[in-house]
Amino acid sequence: MTTPGATPEPKIQILDLAVAYSDGTESLQGITMDIYAHQINVLFGPAGGGKSTLLRTLNRLNDQADVALQRGQILLDGEDILERDYDVIQLRRRVGIVFARPVPLPMSIYENVVYGLRLAGVKDKAQLDAAVERTLKQAVLWDEIADRLGDSAYALSGGQQQRLCLARSLALQPEVIMLDEPTSGLDPISTFKVEQTLQNLKKDYTILIVPHSVQQAARIADWAAFFLQGQLVEWGQGRQVFTAPKNRRTEEYITGRFG
Ligand SMILES: Nc1ncnc2c1ncn2[C@@H]1O[C@H](COP(=O)(O)OP(=O)(O)O)[C@@H](O)[C@H]1O
Ligand SMILES: [Mg+2]
Repeated sequence: MTTPGATPEPKIQILDLAVAYSDGTESLQGITMDIYAHQINVLFGPAGGGKSTLLRTLNRLNDQADVALQRGQILLDGEDILERDYDVIQLRRRVGIVFARPVPLPMSIYENVVYGLRLAGVKDKAQLDAAVERTLKQAVLWDEIADRLGDSAYALSGGQQQRLCLARSLALQPEVIMLDEPTSGLDPISTFKVEQTLQNLKKDYTILIVPHSVQQAARIADWAAFFLQGQLVEWGQGRQVFTAPKNRRTEEYITGRFG
């Protein structure tokens, strides 16, 4: 798909995006970057940099929030999702989001996965069964729980719950999956499994993730963008950003000189 060194196709193009909250905080200041298909695209940097604001903007979750100013464009397959009449329901089907804390619903593992499909009106048992098997396999969870799909989702470990939440968002067949610090509450083994899952998913999806640490960013990034106080300081191939950063601030951050 992508030969080494060649620039892949952008799935999302962010063009001079600025977002300010009504208290005056300029959380994103003229951000321009691409998000590539079949790649793990990483946003990293210290708290307050604007990473979560960018993910929320990509899902139009800021619409009702306290946003005073929004400028620029976000093109998804060439179409501006920030246009007033862009279909937000459709957008959220195409671009799924997984948050830091796994939030399983108080029901069985099976029902958690098919929840969105049932809401969308799917009733066919064979179709639901197929979706459960497909998404749990994609989330690298099937082998661990295939024989207890009727158990409560709460019986799963934190790492399994996070992969279950991933499977739930995959059931709606999104094109892009965004994850905001999905492993921040997990132990190292569960974290490793989630990272493995992302490697497995990038064949089929566009992955955009805010990792919970610089170390994780360096491990998983095909492409990496360093955010500092609302500015995109540096953006490039992960290998380059983490081994030969071009900007002094990037270097200081990845070598632990500030956090
Ligand atoms: N709803 C909000 N209202 C006002 N300011 C906010 C809101 N959400 C985030 N901010 C501010 O925007 C800046 C960026 O925050 P955020 O996007 O959460 O950064 P990050 O995810 O990189 O930690 C911070 O200064 C934060 O305080
Ligand atoms: Mg955040």
